[in-house]
Amino acid sequence: MRYVALGQLPKKHHIQFRKPDGGLYTEQLFSTHGFSSTMSTLYHIHLPTEVTSWEDMGSCAPVYLEEQALRHLHLKTKRLQPLGDAITGRICMMGNGDLEWNQVLVADQMDYFFKNTDGDECLFIHDGSGHMESLFGTIHFREGDYIVIPRGTIYKLHFDKLPVNMLAIVSYGKIEVPKRYRNEYGQLMEHAPFKERDFRPPSDLPVHDEEGAFKVLIRSRNHLTMYTMPHHPLDVVGWDGYDFPYAFNIHDFQPITGKLHMPPPIHQTFQGNGFVVCSFCPRMLDYHPDAIVVPYVHSNVDSDEVLYYCNDKFGSRKGIEEGSITIHPLGIPHGPQPGAVEASIGAKQTEELAVMVDTHRPFKITQAALDIEDPDYWKSWQVKR
Ligand SMILES: [Fe+2]
Repeated sequence: MRYVALGQLPKKHHIQFRKPDGGLYTEQLFSTHGFSSTMSTLYHIHLPTEVTSWEDMGSCAPVYLEEQALRHLHLKTKRLQPLGDAITGRICMMGNGDLEWNQVLVADQMDYFFKNTDGDECLFIHDGSGHMESLFGTIHFREGDYIVIPRGTIYKLHFDKLPVNMLAIVSYGKIEVPKRYRNEYGQLMEHAPFKERDFRPPSDLPVHDEEGAFKVLIRSRNHLTMYTMPHHPLDVVGWDGYDFPYAFNIHDFQPITGKLHMPPPIHQTFQGNGFVVCSFCPRMLDYHPDAIVVPYVHSNVDSDEVLYYCNDKFGSRKGIEEGSITIHPLGIPHGPQPGAVEASIGAKQTEELAVMVDTHRPFKITQAALDIEDPDYWKSWQVKR
């Protein structure tokens, strides 16, 4: 990411920075990978280390099914009922040693702050709107927004109305804009499907100089601890650096199109350790006169492919609906279902909108995923004779 500064800052790091009453602000170095990667510096009114009490809230470790037969899966998230808030309502559908895929149909507003120290988060707001308060300031979000939140960020989501469908991807490694889109200085290059202006860091920094009892739920080592702080945790008067949450709307992704079918990497939006996030957006289709505009069959023998469909207009796939998830695991080929290739010929554009996660290591799924499975999906490639 790039350098951003918000609020009041002293002229130099690590010098006296005084409040109007003459006291010192507390400087905090916020880093996500020791002292050797990106970092930010924040200035607090109160001590961010001060805690009134803490309470053990138990394990939040995902429980995966260890042994599963190999097959394509179709999950129908429309079968989920609104549950909990943006944190407690997370239902882990799958995960591996690199990331978790949590589905959320948010029922309630959050009445506490949250901090995930196990991983960076990439939220995807399928529908709804609202704003996120955070250590780094406020981000207003809307339908189609990805919100990337560095680990350690204290935040609270506020929705304009509920329920709201969202994904919460937790990445144990750093979530970044793909390196191949950036030059040696980190700037996005001309072939990238977005520019810096499309990324929305916090726009304003409300300062909360309040004392009381403020709850911050911390996830660490797959365990939850509820901290009570004697002052508002969002008491930052200024910060600068390269670590901060930001939003990016899927409709600001500029699809790359071609004369003949373009491979999935052209849809890449983010990279993590062991996975990529891609955006399939409305776009013009391949313009060779004999082009086949849907993908060929492919054998992702070293990659699990998971798609979340924001609508039911995915050209190469039949039987999916808004909110569907398909999991095409490594080891067996997948591609358009019978008839889809013929049906696509001559199409000039697509209205598909989907988020894809491709992993390098296999996903393990959860019972919650199987509970909303369409058991006949694997049969959708059978040719009627
Ligand atoms: Fe694929």
